[in-house]
Amino acid sequence: MNTLLDVNGLTVDYGPHRVVDDVSFSIPAGGALAIVGESGSGKSTIARALVRLVRPSAGSITFDGTDLAQLPERKIRPMRHRMQMVFQDPYGSLDPHLTARQIVAEPLRRLGQGSRRDREKEATVLLERVGLPASSADRKPVEFSGGQRQRIGIARALAAAPDLLICDEATSALDVSVQANILRILADLRRERGLTFLFISHSLGVVRAVSDRVLVLNGGKIVEEGVTDEVLRRPRHEYTRRLRRSVLEPALITGRKPRRTA
Ligand SMILES: Nc1ncnc2c1ncn2[C@@H]1O[C@H](COP(=O)(O)OP(=O)(O)OP(=O)(O)O)[C@@H](O)[C@H]1O
Ligand SMILES: [Mg+2]
Repeated sequence: MNTLLDVNGLTVDYGPHRVVDDVSFSIPAGGALAIVGESGSGKSTIARALVRLVRPSAGSITFDGTDLAQLPERKIRPMRHRMQMVFQDPYGSLDPHLTARQIVAEPLRRLGQGSRRDREKEATVLLERVGLPASSADRKPVEFSGGQRQRIGIARALAAAPDLLICDEATSALDVSVQANILRILADLRRERGLTFLFISHSLGVVRAVSDRVLVLNGGKIVEEGVTDEVLRRPRHEYTRRLRRSVLEPALITGRKPRRTA
């Protein structure tokens, strides 16, 4: 199988603190890898390094054959849309002045696609795909629930027609049943569009539904990795066992109090 993303020896320092330490992994095209670890283990920092929101101190990030870690910013820009990120708190990342339809049409505009009408039509289709009716497309973010806003964030990421979708705790602010709905949509999209996934969560329970393989991160280092079901069934590392216990503890599945339902 073709490797879409190959990360080798990734290291990130914040001042004197090494928060990601010699992390290597790869994801085949169409594959789904999860990174799990407790709060502060360095998960988001890895995601941020991949989309160059933070510059690695060492290591390579090879995306479809090109090493991004070495590339100057202006050369990365044309590739940006191919890796899209869905964030934990979509509210913070959705422009409050725009309607859902305009938000989802924006990446299409940036990519110079079609007329405005075409783009808005496509945006409506994408919103419907993630379960938001066309009749709600003219509402602004504040008029949606947390789960619905998360769907807008996913539709917007899809608009860029990415190869790789990075979901950083995309469902952890949501209650369990809303989480399950969104995880199902993501799993379906993966099949339909052949999307490649990097799924970040502090919960092994969440990644079980959406990943083939899992990598367990502790203090910026990989402590365990393997096929998701195997790691869940037979965790080798004590830290993984501790994470797994949280799977059985509903209050810990989300890690925090659910905010609102969709
Ligand atoms: N901009 C920053 N400057 C300095 N230190 C930072 C910065 N961002 C994160 N850190 C530190 O880096 C470490 C890893 O943070 P990171 O956000 O990657 O963890 P995480 O695994 O995503 O945690 P969470 O599950 O809470 O989202 C933490 O100790 C954090 O305090
Ligand atoms: Mg994080």
